[in-house]
Amino acid sequence: MSINYSEKIPNNVNLSEDRTLQRALEQWQPNYLNWWNDMGPDGSQNFDVYLRTAVSVDPQGWAQFGHVKMPDYRWGIFLNPAEQDRKIHFGDHLGDDAWQEVPGEYRANLRRIIVTQGDTEPASVEQQRHLGLTAPSQYDLRNLFQVNVEEGRHLWAMVYLLHKYFGRDGREEGEALLERRSGQTDNPRILQAFNEQTPDWLSFFMFTYFTDRDGKFQLCALAESAFDPLARTTKFMLTEEAHHMFVGESGVGRVISRTCQVMNELKTDDVAKIRDAGVIDLPTLQRYLNFHFSVTIDLFGADESSNAATFYSTGLKGRFEEGKRTDDHRLKSDSYKVLEVRNGQLVEKEVPMLNALNEVLRDDYIKDSIAGVGRWNKIIEKAGIPFQLKAPHKAFHRNIGALAGVKVSPDGKVISAAEWAAHADQWLPSASDRAFVASLMGRCVEPGKFANWIAPPVMGINRQPVNFDYVRFN
Ligand SMILES: [Fe+2]
Ligand SMILES: [Fe+2]
Repeated sequence: MSINYSEKIPNNVNLSEDRTLQRALEQWQPNYLNWWNDMGPDGSQNFDVYLRTAVSVDPQGWAQFGHVKMPDYRWGIFLNPAEQDRKIHFGDHLGDDAWQEVPGEYRANLRRIIVTQGDTEPASVEQQRHLGLTAPSQYDLRNLFQVNVEEGRHLWAMVYLLHKYFGRDGREEGEALLERRSGQTDNPRILQAFNEQTPDWLSFFMFTYFTDRDGKFQLCALAESAFDPLARTTKFMLTEEAHHMFVGESGVGRVISRTCQVMNELKTDDVAKIRDAGVIDLPTLQRYLNFHFSVTIDLFGADESSNAATFYSTGLKGRFEEGKRTDDHRLKSDSYKVLEVRNGQLVEKEVPMLNALNEVLRDDYIKDSIAGVGRWNKIIEKAGIPFQLKAPHKAFHRNIGALAGVKVSPDGKVISAAEWAAHADQWLPSASDRAFVASLMGRCVEPGKFANWIAPPVMGINRQPVNFDYVRFN
């Protein structure tokens, strides 16, 4: 018997009326579930988890809470409501009607954009799959699982577009999205940050703060797309992304709170003493921040890119908040400053704006992510501790574009390879930092209990108490 997918897959795309699409998804869904069972959260298949599920796009429907087993999660397909007579508002087609179908000449590029975005979604689930074994609390465990099922839904969102608009190629790409594996050498995920490990909860919080925020900026740029189904899909994905970044920001904030509390109790800033007390010292937090920030800003791609120019001019991908900008939205005669190294110094170089759109998005991202670092510093300041976290210079520890491989200190000085080698362990998490953080990770899942290295949250999820049974282990 075939499953009734129109009921099983909540959707607002009239799935039951599109037989071809329904058949395609009927074939893909069991493979997705196999992938989830193999690569989803380790050992969690039988847990009842207090999750929010989107069953429609309106305010009452997009956040329904209840205990569910994750393999039974109703991964749905949602597009934001269509905007009447939506027009293309940037690039060469400015003023034309938005596209409801894929124009033949842009098919390959659009497919590539959708596949690249889609690939990050299952990748992060794979990166995070062992974290449940060392959760610092039930509350955090639930948040991890919430992020995981929603990344799964984001994969559905992209696979829907591939199946609906790209025919056989799209179906093949949908399968390939389930076959690549984060960190695997022979068939890795497409983007490097999604092949890194997320080995501990500090990394998880940094990842959800920094790397899910890359997701936000990519989705915001795609939400401007002339291809209307992509714009509407990514708009809805953004509502979920906000929670992922909240998990990251509040997670790091709670680690900071707890560390500051212990520092004040012991009246010390001695790293050895702080570590002996079982909390994460602030310099180690700074190194984790440096790592995740630098790896994530690489995701925006090369600072000069003819692809970026093409994607913009052809209307496939806009800028962050394209609609709020007051320029001509074609950018043909504009320029932008990117960095390069000349005579051993970082200098600015003026390049055509269209070619620098990766850099434009990266700079918008940096502004947004630095704001949260400021909020973390407020916690430290309130505790009366003279220490400030700082985002590193954007040329620090880069692997893409003109700055790839250039040795730059966190404060932006070009240095020699020898200087780099002498300082790398002060700037990036060392093997011993990672071993120390790993040593703190232990399962703490009694309701209302929290691991020693992290403060409880101020509030529970969906107005539930902090000691609510967010996960029933059965
Ligand atoms: Fe996502
Ligand atoms: Fe996310």
